[in-house]
Amino acid sequence: MSDTSFDVVIIGGGPGGYVAAIRAAQLGLKTACIEKRGSLGGTCLNVGCIPSKALLTASHHYHAAAHELGSFGIKVAKVEMDVAGMMGHKDKVVSDNTKGIEFLFKKNKVTYIVGAGAITAPGQIEVTAKDGAKSNVAAKHIVIATGSDVTPLPGVEIDEEVIISSTGALALSKTPKHMVVIGGGVIGLELGTVWGRLGAKVTVVEFLDRILPFNDGEVSKQMQRLLAKQGMEFKLGTKVTGIAKKGKTATVTVEPAAGGAAEKIEADSVLVAIGRKPYTEGLGLDKVGVALDKRGFVQIDGHFRTNVPGIYAIGDVVGGAMLAHKAEEEGVALAEILAGQHGHVNYEAIPAVVYTWPEVASVGKTEEQLKAEGIAYKAGKFPFTANGRARSMNEVDGFVKVLACATTDKVLGAHIVGPNAGDLIAEVVLAMEFGAASEDIARTCHAHPGLGEAVKEACLAVDGRPLHT
Ligand code: FAD
Ligand code: NAI
Repeated sequence: MSDTSFDVVIIGGGPGGYVAAIRAAQLGLKTACIEKRGSLGGTCLNVGCIPSKALLTASHHYHAAAHELGSFGIKVAKVEMDVAGMMGHKDKVVSDNTKGIEFLFKKNKVTYIVGAGAITAPGQIEVTAKDGAKSNVAAKHIVIATGSDVTPLPGVEIDEEVIISSTGALALSKTPKHMVVIGGGVIGLELGTVWGRLGAKVTVVEFLDRILPFNDGEVSKQMQRLLAKQGMEFKLGTKVTGIAKKGKTATVTVEPAAGGAAEKIEADSVLVAIGRKPYTEGLGLDKVGVALDKRGFVQIDGHFRTNVPGIYAIGDVVGGAMLAHKAEEEGVALAEILAGQHGHVNYEAIPAVVYTWPEVASVGKTEEQLKAEGIAYKAGKFPFTANGRARSMNEVDGFVKVLACATTDKVLGAHIVGPNAGDLIAEVVLAMEFGAASEDIARTCHAHPGLGEAVKEACLAVDGRPLHT
């Protein structure tokens, strides 16, 4: 095999692509990964999960020092915000992480090709470097892992200064006075939280009549109440009909989604966060005949195969939950399939976390889904107000809700609003992977005092026998 001929070539170095590359190489396949961004890690490491969490953590610390430490008997003389310093922290975290992937590629002998890949024929890829130089790579298997991009709002131009996407919201040089967030989903609430903590007035305009529409209804309601308490304003059931930019400000015109009187909102920052769309530009998919669905996602079968033999796809570009860990699981499963193993992803047990505070974490079915599917279920709920550890942390907002099958007691879903919910959910994900019953968790010894005791108590509540409420 020549230096330009591989068993597997992956286009896209995000969590789907880079993880697939590492796993394929571990399994002895000669592997290359083509990435055009100039750094590995994709959306997630460069302009997504990691920088947003770096700013969420920094702003959380600032807010705690400025407003919360007093309640623990800690006097802080003068707290100053340093937005540039926070951005420096974020940039360092991103750079350390992306370099870490380059190290992992070297360690696992994955060839990293910098440039834009286009499929010219099954098994053939043309790579265009930044300077325009072209080269060709041959592969037995080609994996499309090109991810996703911001969904634009029709008629609105994102300038990343006043009218921004998540990428702009991760790089503002100062706190806006008034940030209007269009879309009450994950990005809107996380990045609205960052700038709200740093002093911006934040107004969320959401088309539907609830925020976090993919979450359990009770979770959405509780989060709206808690975020409103933190100062976030909500305009639900509201659509944006126009945005007029004047210099460093913008006027956002909104009206009720069902029709009615228009209202104008003045802002110095407008964050468009209405979802993400598959990214397949310049890949040459039309030329090789790879089928896309109506929304532009690459169509695959249960083994990540597109309709063209030898071409596979994983991650955001195939749709489903647009989450880094889902992309990673698909990358691992596909690499194992390509190596002749039996890779598999359990889509019933993919957790989803919103990193606001309190955090929101969920896995499996919501109550609304169970009702719609006519599945008989039992629900157990436990509030953090009754959890000793949460009380010692002054973090009593939220609850754990566990949904289990009414006949078998098998855990079907869990929904947590609360401190460290994103870590607490892992226990329920594991239980679901093992096909556990809620009683299995209820009878498992949990360390005291721990937030995890709330998960155990919610499972006890499924059977109507919580100990501490
Ligand atoms: P991507 O990460 O998008 O990577 C695709 C890569 O392919 C890109 O680097 C792109 O440059 C490259 N590429 C595209 N076309 C070509 C080409 N022709 N040639 C070469 N390279 C190409 N998910 C979570 O699970 N947790 C979070 O906390 C979280 N936070 C997020 C915060 C924000 C602000 C955003 C925007 C997203 C967040 N996500 C989060 C979602 C997560 O980033 C994505 O689900 C994940 O990155 C998808 O991985 P991927 O590998 O499919 O695609
Ligand atoms: P989203 O799908 O989570 O939310 C978009 C929101 O915008 C929805 O509530 C929707 O009803 C609303 N909306 C759509 N069109 C609208 C319009 N014209 N006017 C007003 N509201 C409108 O999408 P978001 O927040 O952009 O995130 C994109 C993806 O990134 C998500 O799929 C998410 O999974 C991923 N992500 C994950 C994170 C995490 O795991 N913590 C963090 C950030 C992003």
